[in-house]
Amino acid sequence: MRIRYICLLVLSFLCLGTAGSYAQSWTIGTFRKHDKANPVLTPRATTTFDCPVRGETVHWEQKDVFNPAAVVRNGKIHMLYRAEDTVGKHNGTSRIGLATSTDGVHFTRLPNPVFYPDNDAYKKYEWEGGVEDPRVVEAPDGTYVMTYTAYDGEKARLCVATSRDLLTWHKYGPVFKNHIKGGGEDYWSKSGSIVCRRVGSKLVATQINGKYWMYWGDQPQLYIAISDDLINWYPLTRSGQSLKAVAEVRPDQFDNRLLEPGPPALLTPKGIVLIYNSMYDASKGRVNLPEGTYTAGQFLFNAEEPDKLIDRTKSYFMKPDKAYEITGQVNNVTFLEALVPYKGRWWLYYGTADSKIAVASAPLR
Ligand SMILES: *[C@@H]1O[C@H](CO)[C@@H](O)[C@H](O)[C@H]1NC(C)=O
Ligand SMILES: *[C@@H]1O[C@H](CO)[C@@H](O)[C@H](O)[C@H]1NC(C)=O
Repeated sequence: MRIRYICLLVLSFLCLGTAGSYAQSWTIGTFRKHDKANPVLTPRATTTFDCPVRGETVHWEQKDVFNPAAVVRNGKIHMLYRAEDTVGKHNGTSRIGLATSTDGVHFTRLPNPVFYPDNDAYKKYEWEGGVEDPRVVEAPDGTYVMTYTAYDGEKARLCVATSRDLLTWHKYGPVFKNHIKGGGEDYWSKSGSIVCRRVGSKLVATQINGKYWMYWGDQPQLYIAISDDLINWYPLTRSGQSLKAVAEVRPDQFDNRLLEPGPPALLTPKGIVLIYNSMYDASKGRVNLPEGTYTAGQFLFNAEEPDKLIDRTKSYFMKPDKAYEITGQVNNVTFLEALVPYKGRWWLYYGTADSKIAVASAPLR
């Protein structure tokens, strides 16, 4: 009798708790937000940068910091984060700063950005919106590969850069520039999540069927691209020019407006798990979320055929519910971009309301 009662209690706890609401045999998590430490990074008005394009000194991380990438290097978490100043025609140019941590929640920052628009061949894509939303994986030879959004103020273009040390970077420009002669460069494209596998505390880009694979967005459909070198990418198409969708929004659900890959996609024994961000259209959905809310779910793709969707979470596993997630530059946003295995946990970093950075973590299994 008593045992049965306890079992019932445990069962109902599992069903009611956040664990039961999304966890499936293949999902990553269960994640818990670090409420006491969050937000772990906030804007700072004291640091300056001599912007080579503007020809002026700017307070480069004064307005907002958000949407970070992260890797573990030399025993420390290294976070590459988007930071905005307050000047110019968009009231903010984005650059990317670097911060390190040995406990996942306390960060030490470099005073200057490590990646920024410059007077180079890529200025035409990056000025003056800037460089946004980095995601970083390691190539098998240890080179860091960063996908990011270059924003000229009108069009977002998914671009790529590499580094050996996270400090100095080599830009290669738009990832699709070589896609079909003369084309590709002008896709509206964002959010490149390269398929990788976990090797200790590293996430290493991994080939499937002799190619690297990358999910990308941000549209009502999710797309996929392949590459031989992690630099030049070719979107999969259905017939000639029409992009092949690998997942779509669901009309009634939390993810009914657009889909955007989150952190690097992870090859697991059950398949490829892609944590994704999604935007909600309250006029069409049947979920109790405010209009425009960014929540996050998880996809499972086939490990041999990465363009085949196997499963997806029925509900979101993260939503904005803290003051700094609800109010900011864009309200009601949790935007997940970084996932690192470190000291026995998965650390999941996310932008909050496009203004600050917070973390959730889960036991590493
Ligand atoms: C920039 O800020 C000014 C003053 O707050 C505001 O009037 C203007 O609309 C803003 N522009 C943009 C592009 O956000
Ligand atoms: C954000 O969400 C809160 C509830 O959590 C709601 O009161 C508010 O209106 C929402 N903001 C916007 C801009 O929709």
